[in-house]
Amino acid sequence: MVCLTGTGCGEKEPKSSSGKLSTKKKVQPETMEKSAMSLDEALAKRRSVRSYSDEPLTNKEISGLLWAAQGETNKLHGFRTSPSAGATYPLKIYLLSKGVLSLYNPESNSLEVVREDVDTARLARDCLSQMFIAGAPAVFVLTAVYGRTGGRYGARGERYVHMEAGHAAQNLLLKATALGLGGVPVGAFDDDAVSRTLTLGATEKPLYIIPVGHERK
Ligand SMILES: Cc1cc2nc3c(=O)[nH]c(=O)nc-3n(C[C@H](O)[C@H](O)[C@H](O)COP(=O)(O)O)c2cc1C
Repeated sequence: MVCLTGTGCGEKEPKSSSGKLSTKKKVQPETMEKSAMSLDEALAKRRSVRSYSDEPLTNKEISGLLWAAQGETNKLHGFRTSPSAGATYPLKIYLLSKGVLSLYNPESNSLEVVREDVDTARLARDCLSQMFIAGAPAVFVLTAVYGRTGGRYGARGERYVHMEAGHAAQNLLLKATALGLGGVPVGAFDDDAVSRTLTLGATEKPLYIIPVGHERK
């Protein structure tokens, strides 16, 4: 699991009372990778990228991408970088890197390891065998808990959740472009197969899979 603290990466992993490695990692937005690229330039340059070099993403780049997608930007109300219908925030975002699946917590700005044995090639097969997904150093998975928005808006909540996934994905893709990275939003996959591969909860549905890396030229 990558260390996202920016300052403590060279330190020993903290241990819990059980002696196991701590699975919580702080993401510090202040240490995230910022970009000098203008929004207009990122909009003009964004292109779907499906071939990646072996170069891993830095912790700062990962922090920046997670923050762009769902970072909390207002502590008082819990508002985030992406808009949300009625601020119901139905989306969850995971990072899958080197078989380790971690869930981003926007409130505490932390990543929590969920599983350490995810087969990324299996995930790629779940996506109608789009095997380039397995070649990405980082794969972001956007899921939704529909009930959070449906509880307030009824059937129309489903539409709102899908709109939100688009907002969050575009934020992430523009940030990737601004950092000199490339990614692609993948919507073609077998929902049930992806849920099984990632062992998602019963109330949670996968909506977007976004591999990101340095483009292999
Ligand atoms: C809802 C949605 C689903 C998509 N699903 C896939 C996909 O499963 N695999 C893929 O390679 N690209 C996928 N794409 C990316 C499109 O193929 C791509 O955006 C399109 O070819 C235009 O190219 P551009 O993104 O470089 O502008 C998807 C895009 C959208 C908006």
